Amino acid sequence: MTEIVLMSGSVRDGSYNSAVVATLRRIVDERFEGVCATVLHPVELPFYDQDMDAADGSEAVLRMRRRVAAADVLVISTPSYNGAAPGVLKNALDWLSRPYGESCLDGRTVAVTSASPGPRGAVDAQPGLVEVLGHVGALVVEHPPVAVSDAEELITDQGEFEDVECLAALESLLRAALATVREAGTSALAA
Ligand code: FNR
Repeated sequence: MTEIVLMSGSVRDGSYNSAVVATLRRIVDERFEGVCATVLHPVELPFYDQDMDAADGSEAVLRMRRRVAAADVLVISTPSYNGAAPGVLKNALDWLSRPYGESCLDGRTVAVTSASPGPRGAVDAQPGLVEVLGHVGALVVEHPPVAVSDAEELITDQGEFEDVECLAALESLLRAALATVREAGTSALAA
C-alpha cells in the first residue's frame, strides 16, 4: 500500500486549506487504487525546543516523525500569512528536520499546494515553503503551481471542494507526486 500523509497549514475551524486536505483524501479514496491517505495535525506539536528535542521529550513529535518516515509522500496545503506559510507549518518542518542527519524529510517526496479566499489562492506562500523543503533535503514535486483561489465561493457545505477544475488540479498534483516517488525509486512503488 502506498501511503500519503496530508498536512494543512491552518488550525482554524472552517479552514480552506483543511478543506483542500479533506478533498485530497477523498480523491485518493475514490480515484487511487492501492493508495491510502491520512491527515497529520501540526498544531499537536509544541513549539520547537532544542532542549526538548535533545531529551526526546515529545511523544507527539516522535509519532509525527514516524508517520512521515513511513509515508511515500507528504502533501502540504498552506495559507499565505503575509506572503509566507504560517508559523505552525515551519514549526512542524523544523521538528521533522531533526535529528540532524536523520531527518524523515530527507529524500521524502513532498508536494505543496495552497488555498485562499482571494484570487491568487495563496500561491505566494509556496516558494518560501519549497525553499525550506529543499533546505531539509525533501524531494519537492515538480508541477505547475496548484492554488485554490476564490475558496469561499467554491467550498461546499461538507467543507470540501467539488469544482471540476479544482479536483483535476489536485488529482494531477497527486499523480505527479506518485510519479516522483516512482522515478526516485524510494518506495515499494518502484518495485
Ligand atoms: C492572511 N490572509 C492573507 N491572504 C492572502 O492572500 N495574502 C496574505 O498575505 C494574507 N495574509 C494574512 C495574514 C494573516 C495573519 C491572516 C490571519 C490572514 C488571509 C488568508 O488568506 C485567509 O484568512 C485564509 O482563509 C487563511 O487560510 P485558511 O485558514 O482558510 O486555511
